[in-house]
Amino acid sequence: MTVRTEEELRAAIRREMPGVRADLERLVRIPGIAFAGFDHGHVERSADAVAELLRGAGVPDVRIVRKGGQPAVIGRRPAPPGAPTVLLYAHHDVQPVGDLAQWASDPFEPVERDGRLYGRGVADDKAGVMAHIAALRAFGDDLPVGVVVFVEGEEEYGSESLEDLLREYREDIAADVIVIADSGNWDVGQPALTTGLRGIVNGFVEVRTLEKAVHSGMFGGAVPDALITLSRLIASLHDENGDVAVEGLLRMPSAPLDYPEERLREEAGMIEGVRFIGTGRLVERLWTRPAIAILGIDAPPTSGAPNALVPVAKAKFSVRIAPGDSAQRVYDSVVEHLRAHAPWGARVTVELEQLGEPCVIDAAGPAYDAAREAFAAAWDGAQPVDMGIGGSIPFIATFQEMFPKAAILVTGVEDPQTGAHGPNESLHLAEFERVCIAEALLLSKVSRLTV
Ligand code: BES
Ligand code: MN
Repeated sequence: MTVRTEEELRAAIRREMPGVRADLERLVRIPGIAFAGFDHGHVERSADAVAELLRGAGVPDVRIVRKGGQPAVIGRRPAPPGAPTVLLYAHHDVQPVGDLAQWASDPFEPVERDGRLYGRGVADDKAGVMAHIAALRAFGDDLPVGVVVFVEGEEEYGSESLEDLLREYREDIAADVIVIADSGNWDVGQPALTTGLRGIVNGFVEVRTLEKAVHSGMFGGAVPDALITLSRLIASLHDENGDVAVEGLLRMPSAPLDYPEERLREEAGMIEGVRFIGTGRLVERLWTRPAIAILGIDAPPTSGAPNALVPVAKAKFSVRIAPGDSAQRVYDSVVEHLRAHAPWGARVTVELEQLGEPCVIDAAGPAYDAAREAFAAAWDGAQPVDMGIGGSIPFIATFQEMFPKAAILVTGVEDPQTGAHGPNESLHLAEFERVCIAEALLLSKVSRLTV
């Protein structure tokens, strides 16, 4: 086997980038959205395209698999004798585009502006898929590790069948190192390993005060309407400071990074005069403490609303939970809180939508050392930092449980301007090349670990 030097790998990635970019654009043109109500034929085409890319990148055993949900792609290439096997994860499905009017260009027709490529999924997570392909192409026939490439087709829709897939194909996907390319870096030019992710608890709360709508003049003043009642119940979820008021939720210390207030304001697009909520360092509020948001409300629309007391209203809540907490326990606490705070004796019903576990990664050991070296080299000497993210990748906890000895590296292409899930999602192209170089260097360094 030819041993490639760092310089050779860099040069190989540079040579591959135009093709990688073209294939990324091809993937972005396939609107594969796993959500209910979307044409899942596109997800099928997207899986086919990923399978083709893997075969073309020298992965001999490629299969499209499913367990009731959307198609995932598993590609395998056995390890050379004595070398470790690396699992490369990404997802090929994307978020819906939301309000099209907010997009400066067609979400499914990628375009470059000022060094960034724009389109839905161009970063999250089709660039993750292509970073794996790029690293494989850089080695050609001389791949020094075994690989299992696992590209999921329904991550954005909650990975419902992933657990079953992992259990069914457990033997096929077992690996010594797992690279999950679905996060990002601390800043452009500043690489990071993601070492903590929050979990997620989504559900619905319905409040009923009346059997039916009644005249708001005849009854208002003595009879509570469901929307005011729901508003008070929702208001009870935070205290005066804007900290979560539900009891029993875990709060953890976070990485020693500082998120400058101005940067956060700017990245979130907070309008002038709006203040932050909660207490503690900003990174703690974002990464290692709980947060609760209301994502939607079912109630009569304002246009055409009659002068009537609303009998029933429903809200969707979303709780992000700290690394180390348990999703089921948090859900139980939220249910208890909502029942105990029912205003004016209203009937409160709570329904679960989704539980996703948080995770903490102890990023110590030879695989993490290799990753840090690879990152520093790819970013011309900038040392990677450990960071958290406030978002969730619930199946990492499943990987930890199924493969307790494997080192899990959470990497990715996102930067603070990426705008994943929002309009005008974009990829910083120069940073993308560094991510690809880093992954090639990582595979090379990991190949020298003893297994
Ligand atoms: N790529 C994200 C996770 C992420 C979020 C990484 C923020 C970096 C920064 C992932 O695709 C995602 O959006 N996950 C969902 C999880 C849900 C569907 C269970 C999330 O966090 O909402
Ligand atoms: Mn993602």
